[in-house]
Amino acid sequence: MAKLTIVNRAGEETTIEAETGLSVMENIRDAGFDELLSLCGGSCSCATCHVYVDDAWLDKLDAMGIDENELLDSSDHRQDSSRLSCQIEMSDALDGLKVVIAPED
Ligand code: FES
Repeated sequence: MAKLTIVNRAGEETTIEAETGLSVMENIRDAGFDELLSLCGGSCSCATCHVYVDDAWLDKLDAMGIDENELLDSSDHRQDSSRLSCQIEMSDALDGLKVVIAPED
């Protein structure tokens, strides 16, 4: 388990005990957040699991894949800290990670 802090679209912050080995998207979904649609179920083809990663954590994540980068380009809300949460696997190294659910496109 590793702590994961999620900020919803209303700006409310919640910290959960995330399951390592699952993606950040799966952890957010399993915690009951319905704002993160995650329509493709984590196969990197929808971009509805878009989050902003806290700056302190950005360089601790695995590099973004080409597909993820192209999908994020389709979002009107892309920022430097944008990632698709289905492409981030929770691990002990990410204990304390904080993400903000991006606005819906
Ligand atoms: S859930 Fe579809 S791209 Fe992440």
